[in-house]
Amino acid sequence: MKRLLITGAAGGLGRAMRSRLAPLADTLRLADIAPVGEAGANEEVVTCDLADAAAVHEMVAGCDGIVHFGGVSVERPFDEILNGNIIGLYNLYEAARTHGHPRILFASSNHTVGFHPQDKRLTASDPMRPDSLYGVSKCYGEALASMYHDKFGQETLILRIGSSFPKPANRRMLSTWLSYDDLARLITRMFEVPRLGRPIVWGASDNPAGWWDNGEAGWLGWRPQDSAEAFRAEVEAAEPLPARDDPAAVYQGGAFCVEPIHKK
Ligand SMILES: NC(=O)c1ccc[n+]([C@@H]2O[C@H](COP(=O)([O-])OP(=O)(O)OC[C@H]3O[C@@H](n4cnc5c(N)ncnc54)[C@H](O)[C@@H]3O)[C@@H](O)[C@H]2O)c1
Repeated sequence: MKRLLITGAAGGLGRAMRSRLAPLADTLRLADIAPVGEAGANEEVVTCDLADAAAVHEMVAGCDGIVHFGGVSVERPFDEILNGNIIGLYNLYEAARTHGHPRILFASSNHTVGFHPQDKRLTASDPMRPDSLYGVSKCYGEALASMYHDKFGQETLILRIGSSFPKPANRRMLSTWLSYDDLARLITRMFEVPRLGRPIVWGASDNPAGWWDNGEAGWLGWRPQDSAEAFRAEVEAAEPLPARDDPAAVYQGGAFCVEPIHKK
Protein backbone atom coordinates (compact mmCIF):
# COMPACT_ATOMS: atom_id res chain seq x y z
CA MET A 1 0.00 0.00 0.00
CA LYS A 2 1.03 3.59 -0.47
CA ARG A 3 -0.61 4.87 2.70
CA LEU A 4 -2.06 2.92 5.66
CA LEU A 5 -4.14 4.78 8.24
CA ILE A 6 -4.03 3.67 11.87
CA THR A 7 -6.68 5.35 14.04
CA GLY A 8 -6.33 5.23 17.80
CA ALA A 9 -2.60 5.42 17.17
CA ALA A 10 -1.92 6.84 20.65
CA GLY A 11 -3.62 3.88 22.35
CA GLY A 12 -2.30 0.51 23.45
CA LEU A 13 -2.83 -1.37 20.20
CA GLY A 14 -1.96 1.62 18.02
CA ARG A 15 1.41 1.96 19.73
CA ALA A 16 2.03 -1.80 19.57
CA MET A 17 1.20 -1.98 15.85
CA ARG A 18 3.07 1.15 14.74
CA SER A 19 6.39 -0.55 14.05
CA ARG A 20 4.90 -3.98 13.31
CA LEU A 21 2.70 -2.65 10.46
CA ALA A 22 5.28 -0.27 9.00
CA PRO A 23 6.32 -2.79 6.31
CA LEU A 24 2.77 -2.82 4.89
CA ALA A 25 2.87 0.67 3.37
CA ASP A 26 5.19 3.38 2.09
CA THR A 27 3.64 5.75 4.63
CA LEU A 28 1.79 5.19 7.92
CA ARG A 29 -0.76 7.86 8.77
CA LEU A 30 -1.13 7.86 12.55
CA ALA A 31 -4.33 9.47 13.84
CA ASP A 32 -5.78 10.08 17.28
CA ILE A 33 -7.53 12.73 19.35
CA ALA A 34 -4.68 12.33 21.87
CA PRO A 35 -1.01 13.09 21.17
CA VAL A 36 0.70 10.40 19.08
CA GLY A 37 4.20 11.85 19.34
CA GLU A 38 6.56 12.96 16.61
CA ALA A 39 6.21 11.48 13.14
CA GLY A 40 9.14 9.22 12.34
CA ALA A 41 10.50 8.38 8.91
CA ASN A 42 7.67 7.38 6.54
CA GLU A 43 5.03 8.51 9.04
CA GLU A 44 2.40 11.26 9.12
CA VAL A 45 0.59 12.35 12.29
CA VAL A 46 -3.01 13.59 12.19
CA THR A 47 -5.02 14.92 15.13
CA CYS A 48 -8.65 14.01 14.60
CA ASP A 49 -11.82 13.63 16.66
CA LEU A 50 -13.77 10.78 15.11
CA ALA A 51 -16.99 12.67 15.87
CA ASP A 52 -15.92 15.47 13.49
CA ALA A 53 -17.12 14.34 10.05
CA ALA A 54 -15.08 16.86 8.05
CA ALA A 55 -11.89 15.96 9.92
CA VAL A 56 -12.53 12.24 9.42
CA HIS A 57 -12.97 12.74 5.65
CA GLU A 58 -9.66 14.58 5.51
CA MET A 59 -7.99 11.86 7.60
CA VAL A 60 -9.20 9.06 5.28
CA ALA A 61 -8.47 10.81 1.97
CA GLY A 62 -5.51 9.23 0.17
CA CYS A 63 -5.38 6.06 2.30
CA ASP A 64 -5.40 2.56 0.75
CA GLY A 65 -6.13 0.73 4.00
CA ILE A 66 -7.46 1.53 7.47
CA VAL A 67 -6.70 -0.13 10.79
CA HIS A 68 -9.42 1.30 12.99
CA PHE A 69 -8.46 1.17 16.66
CA GLY A 70 -9.82 4.61 17.59
CA GLY A 71 -12.71 5.05 19.99
CA VAL A 72 -13.79 4.22 23.51
CA SER A 73 -12.34 0.87 24.54
CA VAL A 74 -14.03 0.22 27.91
CA GLU A 75 -17.40 0.87 29.55
CA ARG A 76 -17.95 4.64 29.79
CA PRO A 77 -20.87 7.12 29.95
CA PHE A 78 -23.07 6.85 26.89
CA ASP A 79 -22.21 10.26 25.40
CA GLU A 80 -18.53 9.28 25.17
CA ILE A 81 -19.42 5.99 23.51
CA LEU A 82 -21.83 7.82 21.22
CA ASN A 83 -19.12 10.20 19.95
CA GLY A 84 -16.25 7.76 19.55
CA ASN A 85 -17.95 4.51 18.58
CA ILE A 86 -21.34 5.36 17.07
CA ILE A 87 -21.01 8.75 15.32
CA GLY A 88 -17.29 8.18 14.81
CA LEU A 89 -17.76 4.86 13.03
CA TYR A 90 -20.48 6.26 10.77
CA ASN A 91 -18.12 9.10 9.85
CA LEU A 92 -15.35 6.61 9.08
CA TYR A 93 -17.50 4.44 6.81
CA GLU A 94 -18.92 7.46 5.02
CA ALA A 95 -15.40 8.75 4.44
CA ALA A 96 -14.31 5.33 3.15
CA ARG A 97 -17.29 5.29 0.77
CA THR A 98 -16.24 8.67 -0.60
CA HIS A 99 -12.55 7.85 -0.83
CA GLY A 100 -12.39 4.60 -2.81
CA HIS A 101 -13.34 1.95 -0.22
CA PRO A 102 -9.99 1.28 1.45
CA ARG A 103 -10.06 -2.09 3.25
CA ILE A 104 -10.88 -1.67 6.95
CA LEU A 105 -9.88 -3.58 10.07
CA PHE A 106 -12.68 -2.91 12.56
CA ALA A 107 -11.53 -3.53 16.12
CA SER A 108 -14.66 -5.15 17.52
CA SER A 109 -14.69 -6.95 20.82
CA ASN A 110 -15.48 -10.10 22.75
CA HIS A 111 -17.89 -7.87 24.68
CA THR A 112 -20.34 -8.27 21.77
CA VAL A 113 -20.85 -11.79 23.15
CA GLY A 114 -19.93 -11.26 26.80
CA PHE A 115 -23.05 -12.82 28.31
CA HIS A 116 -22.39 -16.19 26.71
CA PRO A 117 -21.10 -18.59 29.38
CA GLN A 118 -17.47 -19.62 29.39
CA ASP A 119 -18.36 -23.29 28.84
CA LYS A 120 -19.92 -22.54 25.44
CA ARG A 121 -17.64 -22.67 22.42
CA LEU A 122 -18.74 -19.95 20.01
CA THR A 123 -18.56 -19.67 16.25
CA ALA A 124 -19.04 -16.45 14.29
CA SER A 125 -22.64 -17.54 13.61
CA ASP A 126 -23.68 -17.56 17.27
CA PRO A 127 -25.93 -14.66 18.35
CA MET A 128 -24.56 -11.54 19.96
CA ARG A 129 -25.03 -11.16 23.72
CA PRO A 130 -23.42 -7.81 24.56
CA ASP A 131 -22.43 -7.21 28.15
CA SER A 132 -22.18 -3.38 28.29
CA LEU A 133 -23.02 -0.19 26.39
CA TYR A 134 -19.50 -0.51 25.04
CA GLY A 135 -20.34 -4.02 23.79
CA VAL A 136 -23.56 -2.73 22.24
CA SER A 137 -21.57 -0.06 20.38
CA LYS A 138 -19.38 -2.81 18.89
CA CYS A 139 -22.51 -4.75 17.83
CA TYR A 140 -23.60 -1.57 16.04
CA GLY A 141 -20.17 -1.33 14.44
CA GLU A 142 -20.41 -4.89 13.14
CA ALA A 143 -23.88 -4.18 11.73
CA LEU A 144 -22.62 -0.99 10.09
CA ALA A 145 -19.69 -2.85 8.51
CA SER A 146 -22.08 -5.51 7.24
CA MET A 147 -24.44 -2.97 5.68
CA TYR A 148 -21.61 -1.05 3.95
CA HIS A 149 -20.35 -4.35 2.57
CA ASP A 150 -23.68 -5.60 1.28
CA LYS A 151 -24.79 -2.25 -0.12
CA PHE A 152 -21.51 -0.74 -1.35
CA GLY A 153 -18.96 -3.58 -1.46
CA GLN A 154 -16.89 -2.08 1.37
CA GLU A 155 -14.58 -4.80 2.71
CA THR A 156 -13.97 -5.06 6.46
CA LEU A 157 -12.33 -7.61 8.67
CA ILE A 158 -14.47 -7.59 11.81
CA LEU A 159 -12.08 -8.59 14.56
CA ARG A 160 -13.60 -9.56 17.90
CA ILE A 161 -10.51 -8.93 19.95
CA GLY A 162 -10.22 -10.89 23.18
CA SER A 163 -7.47 -9.34 25.34
CA SER A 164 -4.53 -7.92 23.45
CA PHE A 165 -1.80 -6.94 25.86
CA PRO A 166 1.91 -7.76 26.20
CA LYS A 167 0.98 -10.89 28.16
CA PRO A 168 -2.09 -12.44 29.86
CA ALA A 169 -2.73 -10.42 33.01
CA ASN A 170 -5.28 -12.69 34.72
CA ARG A 171 -6.91 -16.13 34.55
CA ARG A 172 -9.59 -15.03 32.08
CA MET A 173 -6.90 -13.96 29.65
CA LEU A 174 -5.58 -17.53 29.56
CA SER A 175 -8.62 -18.00 27.29
CA THR A 176 -8.85 -14.58 25.61
CA TRP A 177 -5.25 -13.40 25.10
CA LEU A 178 -4.16 -12.21 21.66
CA SER A 179 -0.45 -11.55 21.29
CA TYR A 180 0.66 -8.42 19.46
CA ASP A 181 2.59 -10.53 16.96
CA ASP A 182 -0.46 -12.69 16.14
CA LEU A 183 -2.51 -9.50 15.70
CA ALA A 184 0.08 -8.04 13.36
CA ARG A 185 0.18 -11.29 11.35
CA LEU A 186 -3.61 -11.20 10.97
CA ILE A 187 -3.63 -7.56 9.83
CA THR A 188 -0.87 -8.35 7.33
CA ARG A 189 -2.90 -11.30 6.04
CA MET A 190 -6.11 -9.30 5.55
CA PHE A 191 -4.30 -6.97 3.16
CA GLU A 192 -2.78 -9.90 1.21
CA VAL A 193 -5.89 -11.90 0.33
CA PRO A 194 -7.40 -11.05 -3.06
CA ARG A 195 -10.95 -10.93 -1.75
CA LEU A 196 -11.80 -10.14 1.87
CA GLY A 197 -15.56 -9.58 2.14
CA ARG A 198 -16.56 -8.98 5.74
CA PRO A 199 -15.51 -11.97 7.83
CA ILE A 200 -15.93 -12.07 11.59
CA VAL A 201 -12.68 -13.28 13.17
CA TRP A 202 -12.11 -14.11 16.83
CA GLY A 203 -9.02 -12.24 17.98
CA ALA A 204 -7.25 -14.76 20.19
CA SER A 205 -3.91 -16.52 20.06
CA ASP A 206 -3.63 -20.32 19.90
CA ASN A 207 -4.81 -20.71 23.51
CA PRO A 208 -5.74 -24.31 24.45
CA ALA A 209 -8.24 -22.88 26.98
CA GLY A 210 -9.86 -20.64 24.33
CA TRP A 211 -13.63 -20.32 23.84
CA TRP A 212 -13.84 -19.41 20.16
CA ASP A 213 -13.85 -21.35 16.91
CA ASN A 214 -12.41 -19.53 13.90
CA GLY A 215 -13.39 -22.28 11.46
CA GLU A 216 -15.63 -19.98 9.44
CA ALA A 217 -12.64 -17.75 8.66
CA GLY A 218 -10.21 -20.60 8.00
CA TRP A 219 -9.94 -19.59 4.32
CA LEU A 220 -8.08 -16.45 5.43
CA GLY A 221 -5.06 -18.59 6.21
CA TRP A 222 -4.30 -16.89 9.52
CA ARG A 223 -2.86 -19.28 12.08
CA PRO A 224 -2.03 -17.70 15.45
CA GLN A 225 1.39 -18.85 16.62
CA ASP A 226 1.51 -17.72 20.24
CA SER A 227 -0.25 -19.22 23.25
CA ALA A 228 -1.32 -17.95 26.67
CA GLU A 229 -0.40 -21.34 28.09
CA ALA A 230 3.22 -20.25 28.37
CA PHE A 231 2.10 -17.80 31.08
CA ARG A 232 -0.25 -20.12 33.02
CA ALA A 233 1.99 -20.81 36.00
CA GLU A 234 2.80 -17.12 36.44
CA VAL A 235 -0.88 -16.08 36.18
CA GLU A 236 -2.17 -18.77 38.52
CA ALA A 237 0.46 -17.94 41.13
CA ALA A 238 -0.54 -14.28 41.06
CA GLU A 239 -4.34 -14.68 41.15
CA PRO A 240 -6.30 -16.96 43.48
CA LEU A 241 -8.98 -19.17 41.96
CA PRO A 242 -12.19 -17.11 41.71
CA ALA A 243 -15.41 -18.30 43.36
CA ARG A 244 -17.49 -20.48 41.03
CA ASP A 245 -20.23 -17.81 40.81
CA ASP A 246 -17.78 -14.94 40.18
CA PRO A 247 -18.72 -13.32 36.82
CA ALA A 248 -15.03 -13.55 35.93
CA ALA A 249 -15.44 -17.32 35.99
CA VAL A 250 -18.98 -17.58 34.59
CA TYR A 251 -19.33 -15.24 31.62
CA GLN A 252 -17.08 -14.72 28.64
CA GLY A 253 -17.22 -10.95 29.20
CA GLY A 254 -16.03 -11.36 32.79
CA ALA A 255 -16.26 -8.22 34.95
CA PHE A 256 -17.91 -6.21 32.14
CA CYS A 257 -21.07 -8.22 32.86
CA VAL A 258 -21.45 -6.49 36.22
CA GLU A 259 -20.40 -2.97 35.19
CA PRO A 260 -23.07 -0.40 36.09
CA ILE A 261 -24.40 2.13 33.58
CA HIS A 262 -21.93 4.98 34.08
CA LYS A 263 -23.30 8.48 34.42
CA LYS A 264 -21.00 11.51 34.19
N1 LIG B 1 -6.75 -4.14 23.72
C1 LIG B 1 -7.70 -5.06 23.80
O1 LIG B 1 -7.54 -6.09 24.42
C2 LIG B 1 -9.01 -4.88 23.08
C3 LIG B 1 -10.02 -5.83 23.26
C4 LIG B 1 -11.21 -5.70 22.56
C5 LIG B 1 -11.38 -4.64 21.69
N2 LIG B 1 -10.39 -3.70 21.55
C6 LIG B 1 -10.63 -2.56 20.66
O2 LIG B 1 -9.44 -2.26 19.95
C7 LIG B 1 -9.30 -0.85 19.82
C8 LIG B 1 -7.94 -0.40 20.38
O3 LIG B 1 -7.87 -0.84 21.73
P1 LIG B 1 -6.78 -0.23 22.72
O4 LIG B 1 -6.60 -1.24 23.79
O5 LIG B 1 -5.61 0.24 21.96
O6 LIG B 1 -7.61 0.99 23.31
P2 LIG B 1 -7.06 2.40 23.87
O7 LIG B 1 -8.14 2.95 24.71
O8 LIG B 1 -5.71 2.23 24.45
O9 LIG B 1 -6.91 3.28 22.52
C9 LIG B 1 -8.02 3.85 21.89
C10 LIG B 1 -7.56 5.18 21.30
O10 LIG B 1 -8.70 5.80 20.67
C11 LIG B 1 -8.60 7.20 20.91
N3 LIG B 1 -9.94 7.82 20.86
C12 LIG B 1 -10.94 7.69 21.76
N4 LIG B 1 -11.98 8.45 21.40
C13 LIG B 1 -11.63 9.09 20.24
C14 LIG B 1 -12.27 10.00 19.38
N5 LIG B 1 -13.51 10.46 19.64
N6 LIG B 1 -11.61 10.43 18.28
C15 LIG B 1 -10.36 9.98 18.00
N7 LIG B 1 -9.69 9.11 18.77
C16 LIG B 1 -10.33 8.65 19.89
C17 LIG B 1 -7.99 7.34 22.30
O11 LIG B 1 -7.37 8.61 22.46
C18 LIG B 1 -7.02 6.17 22.35
O12 LIG B 1 -5.71 6.56 22.02
C19 LIG B 1 -10.50 -0.22 20.52
O13 LIG B 1 -11.50 0.06 19.55
C20 LIG B 1 -10.98 -1.30 21.45
O14 LIG B 1 -12.36 -1.20 21.69
C21 LIG B 1 -9.22 -3.79 22.23
